[in-house]
Amino acid sequence: MSSEFFPDEKWIKKLDRQIRDLSDRVGLDRKTLDKVFDESTLLDLGKLISDRVIEYLDFPISAGKEAIIFRGVTPDKKFVAVKIYRTSTLTFKHISKYIEGDPRFNCTNKTRRGIIFEWAKKEFKNLERLKKVGVRAPGPIKKINNIVLMEYIGDEGRPAPLLKDVELKAPKIIFDELLSFISLMYKKAELVHADFSAYNILMYKEKPYVIDLGQGVILEHPLSLEFLKRDIYNTVQYFSRFGLKEDENEIFKRIVKKN
Ligand SMILES: Nc1ncnc2c1ncn2[C@@H]1O[C@H](COP(=O)(O)OP(=O)(O)O)[C@@H](O)[C@H]1O
Ligand SMILES: [Mg+2]
Repeated sequence: MSSEFFPDEKWIKKLDRQIRDLSDRVGLDRKTLDKVFDESTLLDLGKLISDRVIEYLDFPISAGKEAIIFRGVTPDKKFVAVKIYRTSTLTFKHISKYIEGDPRFNCTNKTRRGIIFEWAKKEFKNLERLKKVGVRAPGPIKKINNIVLMEYIGDEGRPAPLLKDVELKAPKIIFDELLSFISLMYKKAELVHADFSAYNILMYKEKPYVIDLGQGVILEHPLSLEFLKRDIYNTVQYFSRFGLKEDENEIFKRIVKKN
């Protein structure tokens, strides 16, 4: 049953408290955080609540330059990750490189907000592609304007940590799997992540999950091979600390080889 949702005073106060806690925790000033929750974002969150997609936002997991991620709770008490793109602070220079040249998106004649909505759509569609080809990543759930809902990776107690923050018991296994993900993305999903690094891999139950797909581009993008090279380079560099040596040029050739 869906009812009209108007963010009432109690709800806004609670959200306000969460945002204040977050700003203390991450050392961001309140003004910056406020910009995420413009009125229309609040209304969209309200719609997700009245449509019973989520019941409430539990706590903020992370606040980055471009997005804030919350853990949300569904009416049947399951967790979801709620990624909210900032509508005012996203740097245009940074994003235009990844969105122009991707024929899935049209950014001409779009306002700044419109471009950010396209960006969120891009992340959602990329997550769908990963799911289709079996690359481990949060399953996409819903996208509404600048909000992307996806599967939450982690426990009741805490979200899964980043690859860069965990000690690996079997680095070779993880390394090989990540290279196979890059390859699967390229060959089967026809996608390049374009920001593949230990900062964008979650480790859960000793398995890696790829996140942060907003900048991912399809192969038609004129810079896709350049981004692919960088993704491979970053991965090889990271794992070299475990004494694992691979030739990044060989890996690149192997991945792009037609067969
Ligand atoms: N699906 C998810 N489940 C659990 N935690 C997540 C999920 N998605 C993102 N996070 C957390 O939020 C942080 C930021 O997410 P990310 O998508 O990398 O955005 P950005 O780097 O642009 O801020 C991640 O480093 C991770 O800690
Ligand atoms: Mg990230």
